Amino acid sequence: MNHEWMQKLQKWECRDSTYQAAEPALVFARAKGSRIWDAEGREYIDLCAGFGVTALGHNNPTQRAVFERSFSDESAIIHGMGDVYPSIDKILLLEYLGQQLPQRLNRGALALSGGQAVEIAVKTAQIATKRSGFICFKDGYHGLDLGILPLTSRADFKAPFVEWMPSHLVTEVEYACPMAQVEEAIDQQKKAGFGTAAIIVEAIQGRAGIRVPPLAWLSSLAELCRAKSVLLIFDEVFTGLGRIGTLSSAFAVEADLICLGKALGGGLPLSACFGRGDVMDAWPQNQGEALHTGTFFGHPLSCRLGLATLQAIVTEGLVERSMNFGEVMQADLKRELIGLPHVKDVRGQGLMIGLELDEKGLGAVLMDRLRPLGVIALASGSFGEGISLTPALNFPEKDWQEALPLIKQAVISLA
Ligand SMILES: Cc1ncc(COP(=O)(O)O)c(C=O)c1O
Repeated sequence: MNHEWMQKLQKWECRDSTYQAAEPALVFARAKGSRIWDAEGREYIDLCAGFGVTALGHNNPTQRAVFERSFSDESAIIHGMGDVYPSIDKILLLEYLGQQLPQRLNRGALALSGGQAVEIAVKTAQIATKRSGFICFKDGYHGLDLGILPLTSRADFKAPFVEWMPSHLVTEVEYACPMAQVEEAIDQQKKAGFGTAAIIVEAIQGRAGIRVPPLAWLSSLAELCRAKSVLLIFDEVFTGLGRIGTLSSAFAVEADLICLGKALGGGLPLSACFGRGDVMDAWPQNQGEALHTGTFFGHPLSCRLGLATLQAIVTEGLVERSMNFGEVMQADLKRELIGLPHVKDVRGQGLMIGLELDEKGLGAVLMDRLRPLGVIALASGSFGEGISLTPALNFPEKDWQEALPLIKQAVISLA
């Protein structure tokens, strides 16, 4: 049945959209907690949580209650009039989110995807500084929308579109490089006449294979930005809202703008860019036409689900749980895997854990070996050299005890 569904998909969908070569094929049919079932009823332990989106697990009771209320109330608002007439849901979400973030990040704008949140940060930085240069980091990932594509590192994502991109306005430097290199990039952009609007960085590089820089490096970056009057954007689309054991890395390091996405909508599309009030206020007052908006921005149902999800993350202590259980998982993985053939490193923070192997593409092979064993993990790293584990923040201990030996079995099978 998985195959029949895939054939239907192949007939109708753009060839680029879904990976279709997985053998055996896997088509999601049902999900609950950290378990997923495919179209043939086969069960999987979900160590990916939809790229870190389903922070409370699939079909969480808190979230089901939101849906049940929304769909049993015949007059519940599903879609509103975003930037013209706001919904109560949007206002409540903005208020609660703003209250949870560092005090100085007190104004935000909503969108639907991580890339769109980054797009808002990039536009904000240009409006606020009246400069148009950006500095980003090698292997960084910020989304694939055309406006922000120059900030995403991987050349293969950009190759067909380079002629459309203002690449001359973007300087890429090594992640966790000496500060002198970043300073030189800022100075060069100034000399070139356009100047640096902002530096954009992931507090932990996610898609690059869970690369954790020293906290002191992020702090130095913030200091340099302050000294040079350049804005610092934290792209926390992946790392934010508890994933790495903090709601926002901007509590520890003074970023000026942060981008949130993935977990924010509790599984529905929702993202946000929050920033310092004085920076965000560079946007003019909406006089009837927003300079930046979209039909579905601040979607009421997404905001309703997002608010319930965020409240659960905060009140159920899932941020601390992520930090603590992530340490348990990392220790288990190190104990069981380090020393096995091909295993190079286990690293991460909170429930964002990477296993690096010693060959390009081997992460994708491991992902394929895990699937028939009933485990879903995602290949990661710029060369597919590892896998990432980003389970739900309430990932049950017993599911981990079941998954760990299966991961070991799959790793041993690579030898
Ligand atoms: C750090 C980071 N920024 C931005 C994005 C883009 O988010 P989206 O795919 O929702 O546009 C991602 C997606 O993985 C990400 O990891």
